Amino acid sequence: MRLLVVGGGGREHALCWTFRRENPDADLYCAPGNPGTAQIAHNLPMAADDLDRIADAADAYGIDLTVIGPEVPLARGLADRLRAEGRAVFGPSAAAAQIEASKAFAKEVMAAAGVPTASSRTFTALEPALAWVGRHPEPLVVKASGLAAGKGAVVCSDRREAAIAVREMLGQGAFGEAGRTVVIESFLEGEEVSVFAITDGRDVVLLPAAQDHKRLLEGDEGPNTGGMGAYSPVALATPALLERAQREILEPTLEEMRRRECRFSGVLYAGLMVDRSGSPSVVEFNCRFGDPETQVVLPLVSSGLTDCLWQVARGVAPTSVVSASSEHAVTTVLAAEGYPDAPKKGAAITIPDALPAGVTVFHAGTALDGDGVLRVNGGRVLTVTAVGPSLEEARALSRSTGESIGFEGKVFRRDIGWREAARSTAG
Ligand code: AMP
Ligand code: GLY
Repeated sequence: MRLLVVGGGGREHALCWTFRRENPDADLYCAPGNPGTAQIAHNLPMAADDLDRIADAADAYGIDLTVIGPEVPLARGLADRLRAEGRAVFGPSAAAAQIEASKAFAKEVMAAAGVPTASSRTFTALEPALAWVGRHPEPLVVKASGLAAGKGAVVCSDRREAAIAVREMLGQGAFGEAGRTVVIESFLEGEEVSVFAITDGRDVVLLPAAQDHKRLLEGDEGPNTGGMGAYSPVALATPALLERAQREILEPTLEEMRRRECRFSGVLYAGLMVDRSGSPSVVEFNCRFGDPETQVVLPLVSSGLTDCLWQVARGVAPTSVVSASSEHAVTTVLAAEGYPDAPKKGAAITIPDALPAGVTVFHAGTALDGDGVLRVNGGRVLTVTAVGPSLEEARALSRSTGESIGFEGKVFRRDIGWREAARSTAG
């Protein structure tokens, strides 16, 4: 089998790692990949959203299955392009990827499907948006509708802050095209959980649920980031909650997508807010695997992921994956100085030769220089995943390994999984 993973972050390293583990003899390619994927796959030096080059590479290497990691190539139609050339692809069409690439569209779909989510209004003109903000209860959330690398949502404690965010997006062009349409929504109280549904557009296979840590600083303070760490499983995501999410959220959404003739096939990522009464509602949908959640979810899948993605890519209903029921995974993101606003590149990275058992270091923003020195080359540099028999063991191992990896300006959180730890202490 010849497999191609599109993308070059920690998520794609974790995908390659899983495919290698399940298919020791497969020909595995990653475009563009990173120094981590280079150890287990052939990196193809081309941008993940260069549709022509990726289509040519799929042809040249006779790729049987392409798995697309990031949202940008999906929203630009990479899956459509490859499918039109007769290839099996795991990832939604551009039309279906709108569920992430247009929050305004996602809100329409949810409204039509009766899926619980924050009440919202969509605006393209500044004055009506400001007038709405002036009447909206506080706190409130202002979101650029388009793709903004996870930075387009501004949680505002009062109307004044919201008016500033609206002016920046609709008045001053912050986020460019992505901010020309703005969604203003009410604030949801509760705790977040990320649910991954592998689907052919109708049938659903759920992977273990995860919890991300979006804020930069310990105790969930500071600015929003792409994610500073994650753990799985999450006690909050009980079988009953997941069953409810499937019935009340995922299935109606998929049905509405079919009704609109943009059937969603791939992985539908539901970012859920679970309120005090245990009811889930949707904070956001993504059209792809989460990063860094993938780096904890996939190590808990003991077999069957390749088959499952392969089935969906061929338009067949997915059969379930096998998950390690008694293990816990925690990943800690090591970020560059200045992340998320202006990450500083170039620092040399040292990783201990012998890593503890149960630990995998996934590369994201790293690059080898001409002398073979591994250097910081992006905001999120590495994600350190530890798998252990208990949450506490996995937390300690992920944290201590993160501490043992060195580069100047390293920023990381030592408290990944704190909510879960507090829950188990309380329970
Ligand atoms: P999004 O880009 O929509 O995923 O939003 C990024 C983050 O902002 C989410 O993970 C939440 O932590 C927070 N957020 C977004 N929308 C809401 C909301 N309506 N209520 C509370 N928090 C929100
Ligand atoms: N970790 C959040 C995301 O992948 O969007």
